[in-house]
Amino acid sequence: MNDSSEKKIIIAIDGYSSCGKSTVAKELARQLNYIFIDSGAMYRAVTLFFLREGLVGNGKINLPAILEKLQLIRISFIFNAATSHNEVFLNGENVEMEIRQLAVAQNVSQIAAIAEVRQLLVAQQQEMGRSKGIVMDGRDIGTVVFPSAELKIFMTADPRIRAKRRYDEMIAKKESVDFDEILTNITERDRYDETRAESPLRRAADAIVLDNSYMTREEQFAWILDKVREKRNEN
Ligand code: CDP
Repeated sequence: MNDSSEKKIIIAIDGYSSCGKSTVAKELARQLNYIFIDSGAMYRAVTLFFLREGLVGNGKINLPAILEKLQLIRISFIFNAATSHNEVFLNGENVEMEIRQLAVAQNVSQIAAIAEVRQLLVAQQQEMGRSKGIVMDGRDIGTVVFPSAELKIFMTADPRIRAKRRYDEMIAKKESVDFDEILTNITERDRYDETRAESPLRRAADAIVLDNSYMTREEQFAWILDKVREKRNEN
């Protein structure tokens, strides 16, 4: 799709964990020549910082200390031409790989439920979308970050299928993983994300649902491109 003559829009992709939001968003951004931002990577990087500080873990969280140290965190993205991906940096350190570990996944929802953490990251995300031409994926992009995004997609898939995809991904990276542990992490994270007081995961009223349980990547991508075309013609 040739982008140069067309008006740039904001594309918000929200949904449950491990349903392939980032994969689709990244490919979409590549084809449209848009910026892709994985907002979950920002919450994961903040979580990594507090894990290293020993302020979260084993079901415990030291909220006063977290709030005090929050201002020490700087999150940025740097484009890696080799992978065509914006990699996330925590205080100048590339943490793109480390934030994908299970220890981070197991604590991120607790950190993401803190209002002050969300305020900090949402402000940065909104700044990134100021000139449009952006695809951002997360949990609250269509509801809170960009409520007037031109295209909102809400992705979902059967939890066991999502766990199997994540399992295969980690096995391919030669990580030692347990399927049930991943399934538990996914379902618990979804429950936590949906029930938290601050910006809970929910479908924006004007978001289009994409259940990709039985769709190939190509089918999903064709489906979304179709929606992008429709929206660009409307706007
Ligand atoms: O990769 P996966 O879909 O499993 O998760 P992620 O997008 O990396 O997000 C990790 C966690 O960050 C989620 O489970 C949420 O708790 C939190 N998150 C959020 O609260 N708001 C966002 N916009 C993005 C992520």
